[in-house]
Amino acid sequence: MIGLLESLARPLLRMLDPEDAHRLAVQALKFPPFVKLVADDPRLAVRAFGLNFPNPVGMAAGFDKNGEVPDALLKLGFGFVEVGTVTPLPQSGNPRPRIFRLDRDEGVINRLGFNSEGAAAVLRRLAARANEGGIVGVNIGANKESADRIADYVRSIETFAPVVSYFSVNISSPNTPGLRELQQAKMLDQLLARVMDARTRMSREAGTTPLLIKIAPDLTLGELDDIVGAARRHHVDGMIIGNTTVVRPTALRDQATAREAGGLSGRPLFALATRMLAETYVRVEGAFPLIGVGGIDSGETAVAKIKAGACLIELYSALVFHGLRLVATIKAELSDALRREGHASIDELVGTDAAAMTAERWPV
Ligand SMILES: Cc1cc2nc3c(=O)[nH]c(=O)nc-3n(C[C@H](O)[C@H](O)[C@H](O)COP(=O)(O)O)c2cc1C
Repeated sequence: MIGLLESLARPLLRMLDPEDAHRLAVQALKFPPFVKLVADDPRLAVRAFGLNFPNPVGMAAGFDKNGEVPDALLKLGFGFVEVGTVTPLPQSGNPRPRIFRLDRDEGVINRLGFNSEGAAAVLRRLAARANEGGIVGVNIGANKESADRIADYVRSIETFAPVVSYFSVNISSPNTPGLRELQQAKMLDQLLARVMDARTRMSREAGTTPLLIKIAPDLTLGELDDIVGAARRHHVDGMIIGNTTVVRPTALRDQATAREAGGLSGRPLFALATRMLAETYVRVEGAFPLIGVGGIDSGETAVAKIKAGACLIELYSALVFHGLRLVATIKAELSDALRREGHASIDELVGTDAAAMTAERWPV
C-alpha cells in the first residue's frame, strides 16, 4: 500500500521545489494509510545508552524538525526518530530557495539555517505523545542571534528532558555561522561541562536522558582526537557521525547545483562520513556507542556503516530518491546479511572493519 501510494506520488513530488515537496510529505504523514505493523526480526534489536531499539534504522534530524509526525514515522518502520533541530526561540532560517536536489548524484544540498518553530511549540507536540512509547530523540541547536549559544543548549535540555528518549547536541550544522566552532577543544569543553550538568540536574525529575553529540564529517583527525577526548572525559553517552559536508567531491555530476552553498548529504557523502565514523570508532575504544549517518541508501551501505563502527544508523536524503519503502528494504537486507554471515545480532558486526578502513586511502 505504501509502495503503491509512493510510486504514484513520487514523480509528482519530484516536480515540486524540494522544500514544498518536503512540506507535502510531512503533511501527508499526518494522515498515514493504515499499515499493519510487522514485528521486526529480533536479530535487528539493539540495546544502546540504556534504550531498547526494535531495529537500528533511525530517521535522521532535519526531516521532522518540529516534531509533527514522529509516531507516523515509527509506524512506518523506523526503529527511532530524531526530531529537530529545534532552537529555543522560533526562527525562520535562511531565504528560499535553500534546498537543492542533485538528481544525478542522488545528493542534496541544504542551507536551511535552523528554521524552527521553537522549543515551546515542539514541546507541546512531544509532551502530547510522551506516553505513546517508541524512541523519539530531540536534536537541539542554538538560535542564530543568541548571545550565549551554550545557554541555548542548556535551556533545551531543561525543556525537553521529561519528554524525549535522548538528546542529540548539534554542533555541526554548517548553516549557522560560527556554530561549528563549538567543536573546538576549549569551547567543546565548556559546552560539555554545562550540558552534562544540566542533564544531571534534570535527572532528578526526568531520569537520566542519554546525551549524544553530533559532529561534522569535515574535521581534521587532530580535531577528532580532541573531540573524542572531551566526549570521553565528560562521559557523554554517544556520538553521531555525522552531519552534512561543506566539501564537494570532485566526481559530482551535477556540477552546477554543486556550487550552491550549504551542506551536502546523500550518496556523495557516504565515503567521507563512513571513514570519519571508522576513525571515531577506533578512538572511542568502546567507551560509548556511535550512530552512523551519511549516504545510507541500501542494505549494503547500512552494513558498511555498522562494520565501520555504528550500532545504530540514520538516514534522510536517500528517502528523497527511493521513498519511505527503503526503510523496509534496508531492514530486510540487514536481516539477510546477518543470516548469511552467521551472526545472531547487529552487535556482532559493529566495528569489525573499522581498523582496516582507517588504513585505506583518504576518500576524495
Ligand atoms: C534538508 C535537510 C535538512 C537537515 N536538517 C538537519 C537539522 O536540522 N539538524 C541536523 O542535525 N541535521 C540535519 N540534516 C542532516 C541529516 O540529519 C544527516 O546528518 C545528513 O543529511 C546525512 O545523512 P543522509 O546522507 O542520509 O541525508 C539535514 C539534512 C537535510 C538533507
